[in-house]
Amino acid sequence: MSETVRVEDAARVRKITLDRPAKKNALTVAMYAILDDALATAATDDRISVVQISGAGDAFTSGNDIVDFMRAATGHAEGLSPRPAASFLKNLASFPKPLVAAVNGLAIGIGATMLLHCDYVVASSRATFQFPFTRLALVPEAGSSILLPARVGAQRASEWMLFGDRIDAETALRAGLVNAVVPPEALEGAASARVKALTDLAVGALVETKRLLREPTRVAVEQAMSRELETFGMRLGTPEAAAAFAAFLSRGK
Ligand code: COA
Repeated sequence: MSETVRVEDAARVRKITLDRPAKKNALTVAMYAILDDALATAATDDRISVVQISGAGDAFTSGNDIVDFMRAATGHAEGLSPRPAASFLKNLASFPKPLVAAVNGLAIGIGATMLLHCDYVVASSRATFQFPFTRLALVPEAGSSILLPARVGAQRASEWMLFGDRIDAETALRAGLVNAVVPPEALEGAASARVKALTDLAVGALVETKRLLREPTRVAVEQAMSRELETFGMRLGTPEAAAAFAAFLSRGK
């Protein structure tokens, strides 16, 4: 059990909670490794039918930890290769069982792109979404260069990805990024109800249905992810990216 990601199993459900609220649940290399393991083991554990992911405190996640980005950008990653993140994304994209996200607040960067791999997304009316990659001199990841246009339309995806503006919950709902928006106090109940509905169904049918839904675009998504990973790695090493990380890390100081 870790202080930064909680993984709890009960009633056929693996509940993953991003739990680093003081840092808005920003994802560190260590957290990616826990997430990666939680998905990999849930995929093969016959006692688990559904995985739910949510965030502790007032954020879902503010995305990749910018301190880790800075380390990678300045070549001080020292064993902190992007491998756990890449492995997590691969497991996320190929995860065979239903994934439900309960978005309680800020969903930034990978916090937003991971939702494109979830089968059902319920958001609090307080939640906001942001694809801020260009603002950090970076590029989209997690297959989002193909999945976001498919989900919300090419024009809207271009706007969201190029400008990196924050999107409110109602806009995300209208665009089809999320399935439902509920008042903050109803979020946990709404997510649990959908998860319970899934656990009442035959897991084999759920897995086969998910596989059939994913199969037509599977190879294209894998190819997009590898293109993105290569470009992302290249952009991480640019002076513009290092300057953007430094600006964030020194703000208000
Ligand atoms: N990486 C590292 N630290 C982060 C972080 C991130 N992605 N997001 C938030 N934090 C840290 C802040 O540095 C701050 O730490 P401190 O208290 O030690 O100074 C703490 O979390 C709280 O964040 P703060 O910025 O004070 O809260 P806020 O409510 O004013 O703003 C955010 C919250 C998330 C909007 C803002 O922190 C932000 O823009 N973060 C960066 C998001 C981002 O670009 N992520 C990368 C995506 S690729």
